[in-house]
Amino acid sequence: MRTPIGILISGRGSNLMAIKSAADAGLLRAHIAFVGSDNPAAPGLTWAREQGLQTIELDYSSGRLRGEEQLEQAMVYYDTHHLVLAGFMRILSERFVERHKGMIINIHPSLLPSFPGKKGIEEAFRYGVKVTGVTVHIVDEQVDHGPILAQEAVTVEEGDTLQDLEDKIHGVEHKIYPVTIDRWLEEGDFSLPRLRRSIP
Ligand code: GRF
Repeated sequence: MRTPIGILISGRGSNLMAIKSAADAGLLRAHIAFVGSDNPAAPGLTWAREQGLQTIELDYSSGRLRGEEQLEQAMVYYDTHHLVLAGFMRILSERFVERHKGMIINIHPSLLPSFPGKKGIEEAFRYGVKVTGVTVHIVDEQVDHGPILAQEAVTVEEGDTLQDLEDKIHGVEHKIYPVTIDRWLEEGDFSLPRLRRSIP
């Protein structure tokens, strides 16, 4: 049984592409029910259309409430309970997150809780860290926060440019996101110890 997932993007969509490749290769127990974007000009949205995926432009111009209403309508229409954030640059409201608790996953290009926010790679690089990485987590009411499902470290080598680091981080993202989504769909919130999860 393949679980329908909605993927939300705002830009390039390289993680979306990696997820689709994994799904097409039968490595992911999911099918992409729809791709939503707050940015009608997102290259990832154009790519999704070209691939024949269902796409939805979320209208945030009159506020977050309207955008999230459209998102919920799409989830109902496509019978989708699981949302995958892949470079979605909007912060979901507490109300939305509360209504879909545990059903939204995000990828962030740093080792959280270090360097949350939109410039995780750049800020880590400028800080001069020797190790940064990628985090996949369940979304909670705070930004770039919530139970961690997977992390992988990336080493900053002597002489690496910001571009080098970005390339390394994205390479790791494309590898771990599909795998982690698959585990999440199979096991739910596996960041919690099994004992705790078995307590009603
Ligand atoms: C990724 O670095 C992801 O970690 C962050 O936004 C970026 C999206 O890139 N949340 P892409 O649109 O998937 O290429």
